[in-house]
Amino acid sequence: MNMFDQFLWVIFPYAALMIFVVGHIFRYRHDQFNWTAKSSEFIEKKQLMFGSLLFHLGIIPVAFGHISGLLIPKSWMNAMGVSEHMYHIGAVYIGGIFGAMTLIGMLLLTARRFTIRNVRRLSSASDLVVNVLLLFIVFMGMYATLFTNAVQPEFDYRESISIWFRGLFMLRPDASLMHDVPWSFKVHALSGFAIFAFWPFTRLVHVWSVPLNYVGRSYILYRRHKSN
Ligand code: HEM
Repeated sequence: MNMFDQFLWVIFPYAALMIFVVGHIFRYRHDQFNWTAKSSEFIEKKQLMFGSLLFHLGIIPVAFGHISGLLIPKSWMNAMGVSEHMYHIGAVYIGGIFGAMTLIGMLLLTARRFTIRNVRRLSSASDLVVNVLLLFIVFMGMYATLFTNAVQPEFDYRESISIWFRGLFMLRPDASLMHDVPWSFKVHALSGFAIFAFWPFTRLVHVWSVPLNYVGRSYILYRRHKSN
């Protein structure tokens, strides 16, 4: 087995997951006051609203799609009555629609972050990394779903990527499963793991703190100061 494959598909994903867990513990213990999504609503609101809404409405179903495609074995899906054809239609059309929403949202958020001077000025290096990396991951996911799937219809990621992915969590990692996967899926999966390593050190920590009433309320709450 090629050492490079072993690095990419075993060592790298485990390292990313390890940093994800230890990083969160560290951040929680040492930096709770900065545990925030760091809103920039007070600089610009309209583009933020559209971009953020599209991104979040897209990413949640996309995350559920990943669970059904990566974590649930193909044979279980078949046993539940979801045929190959049905799965494929769902993955391409439903995944495609929500993926497109996520991508458009991310494009709007990126344009806003880079073109509005005060938003750009307020952005830390970690904000820029998260932004560009998310855009890249989502773009590659869409490229793989819409383009690679169309030109290489014989490739079935549920026979390779999904088995490799589950193997990592069952402590039976097998890098050889990824060897013949098309490059777009490889790049997507690697960048997907990379974001987990950055996660604890960025505004992405807000994901774990979303209160349920958060969805409807304004981004920043302004409260009247009561002096006594
Ligand atoms: C952690 C490792 C990851 C793996 C192994 C992975 C794997 C995949 C696979 C196999 C597809 C193709 C689905 C299809 O053609 O039906 C896909 C699509 C996609 N992925 Fe990922 N992914 C990962 C992480 C991520 C992350 C972190 C994001 C977002 C931030 C993301 C966003 C997307 C999007 C937007 C699509 C296209 C729409 C869709 O099919 O849902 N992925 N991914």
